[in-house]
Amino acid sequence: MTRSAAIAPGKWAFITGGSDGLGLAFATDLAQRGMHCLLIARQEDKLARAAAAVRALGVEARTLSLDLEAPDAVAQIAAATADLPLTLAVFNAGAEASGAAFVDRPYDHWATTIRRNVLFLTEALNHFGKRLADSAAAGTPGGIIVVGSEAAFGGVGLSGIYTATKGFALNLCESLWAELAPRGVDVITLLFKIADTPMLRETLARRGIPVEATGASDPIALARGTIEALGDGPVYNPDAVSPDDPVTSNAARRERVNAKTEQMKFFYG
Ligand SMILES: NC(=O)c1ccc[n+]([C@@H]2O[C@H](COP(=O)([O-])OP(=O)(O)OC[C@H]3O[C@@H](n4cnc5c(N)ncnc54)[C@H](OP(=O)(O)O)[C@@H]3O)[C@@H](O)[C@H]2O)c1
Repeated sequence: MTRSAAIAPGKWAFITGGSDGLGLAFATDLAQRGMHCLLIARQEDKLARAAAAVRALGVEARTLSLDLEAPDAVAQIAAATADLPLTLAVFNAGAEASGAAFVDRPYDHWATTIRRNVLFLTEALNHFGKRLADSAAAGTPGGIIVVGSEAAFGGVGLSGIYTATKGFALNLCESLWAELAPRGVDVITLLFKIADTPMLRETLARRGIPVEATGASDPIALARGTIEALGDGPVYNPDAVSPDDPVTSNAARRERVNAKTEQMKFFYG
């Protein structure tokens, strides 16, 4: 059972990167709970197959073929959801697997990930955070799920821009968790090490490594765990070192965000 009122049969969710892997796992779990889904990704054939699988679970599914790096990506999602009773936004697409050192690729290479993981995400959280808060004020609570990574916890060689963008997302989303919970919108960030997705399999295949050798998590279990933890943020981390670890534990992170937010209230009123 999820504790969040955002997960409601008959309401709509959108899922970025909803056409495969973890994104499709979120859509599948939400559909099993009776939610209709708008799946967003670039490739139309994959979107169509994913939407058919979601519809087979007895709910409605729409698709939006869109590159999240497009300057009007948020406007396109806003238009595609304007007529829908939206209660949940799932921001999932966000991997970066070039495995290159930062200076060995030109800025334009890294800018693609920054556009999707930072610029799009920030504008979308601003737009949909406000929309969901307004709906909550009118009596319909909402939720936001952001798929992060343990990469958010610090810099790592061959992963600089990825870890930087995931760190940005974690800081912003923990702040939003504190700001939006009192306004009727649950926010949670999924943190984990590695998941068995098509992206991971493609990356491993280049080096001839079987996915079984990596201990990758099951996307269905990750999606279900996150949905059930919505309302109990700021993070859901099934790979936490211990319940009181200050970096990886939800309880410890919540305590820190709450204490620091109280300090901000003291400064700013
Ligand atoms: N897999 C892991 O081991 C792992 C570990 C930690 C965290 N994560 C996080 O989990 C999330 C999902 O990862 P993933 O492995 O499933 O790979 P992903 O590439 O982030 O997600 C794949 C999905 O996103 C879509 N997508 C990718 N780029 C897009 C863009 N620019 N515009 C629109 N759609 C786009 C893909 O469809 P199209 O290609 O058709 O657009 C597909 O539906 C990411 O945020 C990632 O950082 C993954």
